[in-house]
Amino acid sequence: MSAKRALVAGAGGFLGRSIVRAFHGNGWEVRALVHRPERIPLVEEVGGVATLGSLLDVPRLREACRGCEVLVHVASSDPSGPEGPEGARRTRVEGARALRAAAEAEGVRRLVIGSGYWVYADNPGTITETSPLDPRGESAVNRETELAALEGAGPGAPEVLVVRPGMVYGAGSWLAGIVEALREGTYRYIDQGRNPWSFVSLPDAGEGFARVAERGRAGEIYNLVDGVPMAWRDFGDRLSERMGLSPPGSLDRSQAEALYGPEVAHHLSARRACSAAKIRSLGWAPVHADVVHGLAQLGDWLRSGDPERGSR
Ligand SMILES: NC(=O)c1ccc[n+]([C@@H]2O[C@H](COP(=O)([O-])OP(=O)(O)OC[C@H]3O[C@@H](n4cnc5c(N)ncnc54)[C@H](OP(=O)(O)O)[C@@H]3O)[C@@H](O)[C@H]2O)c1
Repeated sequence: MSAKRALVAGAGGFLGRSIVRAFHGNGWEVRALVHRPERIPLVEEVGGVATLGSLLDVPRLREACRGCEVLVHVASSDPSGPEGPEGARRTRVEGARALRAAAEAEGVRRLVIGSGYWVYADNPGTITETSPLDPRGESAVNRETELAALEGAGPGAPEVLVVRPGMVYGAGSWLAGIVEALREGTYRYIDQGRNPWSFVSLPDAGEGFARVAERGRAGEIYNLVDGVPMAWRDFGDRLSERMGLSPPGSLDRSQAEALYGPEVAHHLSARRACSAAKIRSLGWAPVHADVVHGLAQLGDWLRSGDPERGSR
């Protein structure tokens, strides 16, 4: 068996860096696959050994996977970027297939796929890993990514595990967008924002991926949330309070669909209170027990708005 060595695809990204940090902290040697050279210092800073390349470059990927026990896929590209939605789909879905093929060719034991909790349908109850799905827009691509990795499972094939993080909050990503909109006074809830969201802090998310890689069961899906859902409005009102701003107002559904598009409006207003029981059964427990405590750690960044000053 190979050494305790992992490859993280998407290592230079928001989620990727927290995963590199957590694996490194848990005694792994981490190869950090980065797409652009300017990301190299960012992954080295969190304990990764940078390896430059694309996960869609098959020979390069095979070389990067050689000698690894685990591969993690959190690479994604922006659908509104130069390669458009098809390029973004390729990075996720074809990236999963490429990683699975490379794992098979190089004798890698496990592949951990990062997906997202937006694949679940709007649900008035508590969502578990077997709850109904209704993936739309970017989350349909995440679901396709899960299936691309899971297909072909069987004896001799690499073990595939799926992680579905909730809203991963830290200094950047979607939270940076909300912070900016709050500061500009343009942020709005939909229909009063009473629907629950599920959260996990960025460092806890990284640790969750490490725990699933080490202790998860082959073929299983794990929600990665702190297990303390909060109504969108309660979250946003607390955030504005921390920033010294008044709480945002609300749009009705048709206004929101016109502004954000129907898919994003649907996702924002869906009820997704997720259970953390399954991932907790692996011995994972969040350091930031809920988003209220987690936001307190981001105080400086929330006030300054400078992503480099927040905890990553
Ligand atoms: N952020 C969240 O709260 C959250 C929550 C749940 C699920 N997720 C899911 O997690 C995934 C990652 O999200 P994120 O927020 O970490 O995104 P991100 O910050 O944009 O990171 C994605 C990384 O993938 C890299 N990448 C793109 N194309 C690549 C390629 N061909 N080969 C290798 N690397 C490539 C990008 O590198 P370059 O920038 O250099 O191209 C970037 O560093 C997404 O699928 C998202 O849906 C995120």
